[in-house]
Amino acid sequence: MNIPESINVLLIGGGAREHALALGLTDSPRMGTLYATHMENPGIATLAQPIDVPASGKELYRLVQFCDRVNIGLIVIGPEEPLAQGWADTLRKKADGSPRLVFGPGAKGAMLEADKAYAKQMMKAASVPAAEGKVFTHFNHLEEYLNTRDDVFVIKATGLAKGKGVIVPSTNAEGIKAARDMMEKRIFGDAGKKVLVEQKLNGTEVSVLALFDGHNILVLPPCQDHKRLADGDQGPNTGGMGAFCPANTIDEKTMQQIESEVFVPIADVLRRDEIDFKGVLYAGIMLTPAGPKVLEFNVRFGDPECQPLVTRLESDLLELLWATAQGTLDQVDVKFSPKASVCVVLASAGYPQNPEFGDVITGVEDAEAIEGVRVFHAGTKLMENGFLVTSGGRVLSITALADTIEQARDLAYKAADEIHFKGMQFRNDIAQNAPVHS
Ligand code: AMP
Ligand code: GLY
Repeated sequence: MNIPESINVLLIGGGAREHALALGLTDSPRMGTLYATHMENPGIATLAQPIDVPASGKELYRLVQFCDRVNIGLIVIGPEEPLAQGWADTLRKKADGSPRLVFGPGAKGAMLEADKAYAKQMMKAASVPAAEGKVFTHFNHLEEYLNTRDDVFVIKATGLAKGKGVIVPSTNAEGIKAARDMMEKRIFGDAGKKVLVEQKLNGTEVSVLALFDGHNILVLPPCQDHKRLADGDQGPNTGGMGAFCPANTIDEKTMQQIESEVFVPIADVLRRDEIDFKGVLYAGIMLTPAGPKVLEFNVRFGDPECQPLVTRLESDLLELLWATAQGTLDQVDVKFSPKASVCVVLASAGYPQNPEFGDVITGVEDAEAIEGVRVFHAGTKLMENGFLVTSGGRVLSITALADTIEQARDLAYKAADEIHFKGMQFRNDIAQNAPVHS
């Protein structure tokens, strides 16, 4: 593969996902200088250099000029917002019009996540197995529809709502109220203008992510996420309270089925529509008695799924992301460790509704001293007096690698015991119900 000896990389995004990516990228012998937009993340700050222009959608030309000036060879975009805003389309061109490599789809590809109505259409066009759904633009039509149904439906804002736009109600009356909040009260702004009403599916959820380079598809090992706040899948939905990889609730045959029934046909419709998707497509899958069905697409790595995934990657992450952006995934050597990885998220008091900030965090170094443990920063801030304090809802992602899921879980929780801050919340049952990893 025609890959340069040394590549300067710009990393966009500031969560634990991006800290994990930064660590993987800087492990590569091909890493030149890593620049990052979010140096306020103390983990990223130890691995990257700052940029001296704003990272703002309104002044993207300045980021383009910066990338030209410091000779950035690859841009990696972590979160969905800049992808949905079309940053990849702009950054893919140097100021002189020549191409630059970007890991992450352009605005059209990002609509698979940013517009659930569009994603549904694409799934239909590709005959991807998914929950049945109907899109409403008028609240009273939705209300009429739900009032005539006996079974309970899931309510989804079609736009980006920071992971809060999906309501799985216990009754349709509850669903109607949620839809009214979205469509009339606009609690998610324009993201709730259109609402998708979807058949409720039962089963085990898995996150299956695949790299797309415009020609080739590389399906990554399956992960399992824990979205609810409290043990036993109780409490409100969150961005994700923990994850593990591999998710051994799914077998090889089902993985192949997901490749051939989900990723291959979606890649075909993207090509049909001339959408050049170079990045990662994340399929949220429900394993139902009738087979795997797609609940949603994301156009980025999952957070926290990325943390155990990158922890298990033994081959070169920079080469992998570079090859994805270049369209040469078929030429890259990809190897994952046979070990298992478990990630436990530590969240601040009041998360997800009203997270509290500014509480002093202790014990991160002691946690990292445990062999096999990495602590990725998300909502943390390093004060001038040297104290580390909470500054976001999800604060830290403790990620452990060990021979089995049980051992990785024990290590992650041993590390969690070392860390303290006021009101710290975490789940005690991450990867608990995972069958024994052999
Ligand atoms: P999403 O943001 O679309 O992944 O939805 C958040 C969570 O809501 C998912 O992880 C599921 O637990 C749940 N969910 C979404 N769609 C459905 C569905 N059709 N049936 C049952 N649960 C769902
Ligand atoms: N872990 C779920 C997500 O990244 O959307």
